[in-house]
Amino acid sequence: MSVLDRLAERQLVVVTGKGGTGKTTLAAVLGRLMADRGKRVLLLEVDPRESLHQALGTEPSGGALVPAGAGLFIQNLQPGAVIEGLVREKVHLAYLAHKITESVAFHQFVEGAPGLKETALLGHAYRVLQGGHRPQTDLVIVDAPATGHSATMLAAPGLLAQASEGGQLGDMAADLAAFLADDSRCGVVLATLAEEMPIQETLELIDLLEEKLGIQPDLIVANGLYPPLPQGAAEAPGTSLWEARRRLNEAELSRLAAAWDGPLLELPLLPLDRGPLLVKALASRFSREDL
Ligand SMILES: Nc1ncnc2c1ncn2[C@@H]1O[C@H](COP(=O)(O)OP(=O)(O)OP(=O)(O)O)[C@@H](O)[C@H]1O
Ligand SMILES: [Mg+2]
Repeated sequence: MSVLDRLAERQLVVVTGKGGTGKTTLAAVLGRLMADRGKRVLLLEVDPRESLHQALGTEPSGGALVPAGAGLFIQNLQPGAVIEGLVREKVHLAYLAHKITESVAFHQFVEGAPGLKETALLGHAYRVLQGGHRPQTDLVIVDAPATGHSATMLAAPGLLAQASEGGQLGDMAADLAAFLADDSRCGVVLATLAEEMPIQETLELIDLLEEKLGIQPDLIVANGLYPPLPQGAAEAPGTSLWEARRRLNEAELSRLAAAWDGPLLELPLLPLDRGPLLVKALASRFSREDL
């Protein structure tokens, strides 16, 4: 089974990696590819500095659902808004719900409860998948925070479940933790550049995911690679920036390969600005590779 086939069977795919490695671009590429396979896909962006809409050429979400082509919606989701929405759902009197969400105690609770904000975000994805929200969705792809924060986010429901020892919140968190640990339903994709620091963080995250959550990534994408050197360049090394960067890419890819024998996709650095053309070009590379 190809990696794309496997991802298409997932309900939740979390895209993470070091800052600036192409997480948002990759989430958009995966969203487009999965929607083209007939999946109803929701792309959730966690970063309040919205950029997902630029990758797909839509309006910014500002918290709302925005259609981004056939089968695909995007939404920027902030934990505070999700938790306030939950309060409004439970407390039917609008003025009372407003009083609660405006109160200092409520804000202290949201800020102080360990893992609550992260759990709220993933919990939203879970509820969408259970049909609790429109539009109907087969697959949620999360454009997640950078490396360490994503591991914290994925571990949060389990920690919250332990800390709550039952109760409605604890049961919900335990359900969510079990969902996240189910590798037939949930997957992780890591974006990296083939450079020293991103590869280092990738190797550390692979270990962290295994250790803390027993999860292995479905795929690592080495993004933004410089074009291969012409034959013979090894014997007569030049000094151009391109050669230096490509040599660095190759050295770091070898370092990654020594520690990771799972699926790896190499994507080139393309001379295109952030936007739908870049997403389309990278998506075609994805399909072309036999992963
Ligand atoms: N393969 C590529 N070729 C050319 N440009 C790329 C490629 N991948 C990503 N980019 C560009 O690199 C920049 C950073 O990519 P992106 O925003 O996807 O990274 P990110 O990991 O989401 O960053 P952040 O950590 O800030 O959220 C963007 O301008 C994007 O268009
Ligand atoms: Mg991003």
